[in-house]
Amino acid sequence: MTKEEVNKIFKEKYGNESPEVYTSPGRVNLIGEHTDYNGSFVFPGAIDKGMIAAIRFNGTDKIRAYAIDLDESSEFGLNEEDLPKEGWAKYIFGVCREIIKRGGTIKAFDTAFAGDVPLGAGMSSSAALESTYAFALNEMLNLSIDKFELARIGQSTEHNYVGVKCGIMDQFASIFGKKGHLIRLDTKSMEYEYFPFDPKGYKLVLLDTLVKHELASSAYNKRRESCETAATTIAKRYPEVEFLRDASMQMLDEVKNEISEEDYIRAQYVIEETQRVRDVSEALERGDYETVGQRMYETHHGMSKLYEVSCEELDFLNNVAREHGVTGSRVMGGGFGGCTINLVKDELYDSFIVDAKEQFKDKYGHEPKVYDVVISDGARKL
Ligand code: GLA
Repeated sequence: MTKEEVNKIFKEKYGNESPEVYTSPGRVNLIGEHTDYNGSFVFPGAIDKGMIAAIRFNGTDKIRAYAIDLDESSEFGLNEEDLPKEGWAKYIFGVCREIIKRGGTIKAFDTAFAGDVPLGAGMSSSAALESTYAFALNEMLNLSIDKFELARIGQSTEHNYVGVKCGIMDQFASIFGKKGHLIRLDTKSMEYEYFPFDPKGYKLVLLDTLVKHELASSAYNKRRESCETAATTIAKRYPEVEFLRDASMQMLDEVKNEISEEDYIRAQYVIEETQRVRDVSEALERGDYETVGQRMYETHHGMSKLYEVSCEELDFLNNVAREHGVTGSRVMGGGFGGCTINLVKDELYDSFIVDAKEQFKDKYGHEPKVYDVVISDGARKL
């Protein structure tokens, strides 16, 4: 939806005075999955799909919000007990509460928003929503919150008002995104580096299974607990280990009998994934996309067999990619449904898409959705 369209709907709903309009994107992630709550590395980029919101202060003590795509409204106050019942409104409420907790003063506003990040596809529609409001309110109220803290406000919203104990990757990418660049973020030091991403001769494409699994958030939180158990057990012997990122397979093997088999294989995945992100950073520096692709397949294998966040449909698409000779393919994001991200040679692109659509439809009765990845800018005013 364009700025003009959102503006028009806002005015129809809340009157003629002009609102301000902000947008913030979803993200892809080249590699480094479930590493961001383990102090390790991620490699995301913002995409050309996001949320767009018109906002205007209303001089009352109630926020009035309208979700254009759902044609649903919500009205809520700014105190902790005013938590709205609509799932989508919790994100806006949470962002306001997290700003207030950090000492900021929020003035109530009217808002209408829309988005084109597919929901539940692993492209972080929720982070896009949080980042839109965190970024906009910071500017509109001159709060002088730095960009890292804006990302943390979105993350805390997930923790405290949505119930997902997520890492920082999605909100970080949504705020810090830069056109044509992926960002390697060290989630322990929060140091980051922009990598120009223009793989000559290759395309990045997402295939969305359109599968969404219930209980994904509790399964996500459970993965996080396993990692924390493994890390704290290792830390008893190696106090320098704060996160799994600091641990080696040898350290993990030493505590094998002190943790469950499940915690062990989860931690193994994270330790191996940390190394893969390092390998991919080096490979990108020398333009070696074959290595990038190989690591992507290894990540898929780890996410499927060790971390167990894939599903039948994602494994199927991954297999189609491999059999078609696609350079790299893996489940992207939290998992439990959603998309695969594929690094495909230009000359294989068309036949791969046809093949994936046909084979998937034969097996599951519907085609996967195809999204070309365009790496774009982060949160901004329109
Ligand atoms: C979700 C979370 C992120 C990250 C990914 C997996 O998108 O919000 O913090 O953990 O899953 O890499």
